[in-house]
Amino acid sequence: MILICGGAGYVGSHMVRALVAQGEKPVVIDSLRTGHKAAVHPDAVFVQGDIRDRATLDGILAGYPIDAVIHFAASTQVGESVQKPLEYFNNNVLGMQTLLEAMVAHSVRNLVFSSSAAVYGDPDTVPVTEDAPHRPTSPYGETKRIMEEMMRWVGPAHGIASVSLRYFNVAGAIADGSLGEAHFPESHLIPLILQVPLGRRKQITVFGDDYDTPDGTCIRDYIHVEDLADAHILALAYLRNGGRSDAVNLGNGAGFSVKEVIATAEKVVGKSIPSRIEGRRAGDPARLVASSAKAEAVLGWKPTRSDLENIVATAWNWHAKHPDGYER
Ligand code: UFG
Repeated sequence: MILICGGAGYVGSHMVRALVAQGEKPVVIDSLRTGHKAAVHPDAVFVQGDIRDRATLDGILAGYPIDAVIHFAASTQVGESVQKPLEYFNNNVLGMQTLLEAMVAHSVRNLVFSSSAAVYGDPDTVPVTEDAPHRPTSPYGETKRIMEEMMRWVGPAHGIASVSLRYFNVAGAIADGSLGEAHFPESHLIPLILQVPLGRRKQITVFGDDYDTPDGTCIRDYIHVEDLADAHILALAYLRNGGRSDAVNLGNGAGFSVKEVIATAEKVVGKSIPSRIEGRRAGDPARLVASSAKAEAVLGWKPTRSDLENIVATAWNWHAKHPDGYER
């Protein structure tokens, strides 16, 4: 069985759904501080708890035949991490520490970890390959870097194999519109753009149009959340087949500017979406685009749903049906 830490969150809930579709019965642990109980598939075993609570982890690992863990449970807001670095070190780093201790105690050998492009900070060149220097520009990115390092040292000492999946910009929603992104407060570009046609926001603010990019706005690599879930399933199979510890980027390999994303949303929604240019947001790199060659070579992963229009259309399908997220 598979333990999903943070299975009530945005990516975690899509992951649980994908595993259930494969006939697995995952066990989910989630504190529900940012996750949503309604997002957890009813066929999963659900435990409300914090992974920093060793007794709760011990109860799960003693109670179910868990052979692999997928770890999504972490704080993820870059800006908040700058304001509250100690909360990020506590939740993310101590969370990983406690999880690894429990895995060692219960002889669980496989770990798939939700890492981030934030480990690279502002890369010198794009597309970014996995051997690019790790220079995080926020406490959030630093915690992900440290969590990867913890696995790198603990793995050989205790026989735990791990795959770190470094996500670029995750977006979109499951095709049937039953799961999607619901952050409070929301900080991500695509859901914020879609709040305009939903009548929740008058305009979208563009953070800077004076970057060294073709239209002056920042370029990001958007990857569909279901493609991301597929990569975790492949990483799990890779580890169960004896694959060695590794880290891979997950992106689409194509970059889109903020203005291009707004134009795509206007096309999908069929309405004009007013925008206003403001100053740059601190810490934003001009361009972040993944090389996903290694993900294809090591895991056999190829995104199939990450055409930008499809990403925005699935997000729109979710938000239009659930304008208040899981609350209504
Ligand atoms: N943006 C705007 N206006 C907004 C919100 C965002 O112009 O209202 C711009 C940002 O400046 C950025 C782009 O849209 O250029 C994407 O911003 P997001 O906040 O959606 O995503 P980020 O690229 O900042 O962050 C993502 C993940 C983080 C991860 C980071 C890696 O959400 O978890 O990539 O650098 F850490």
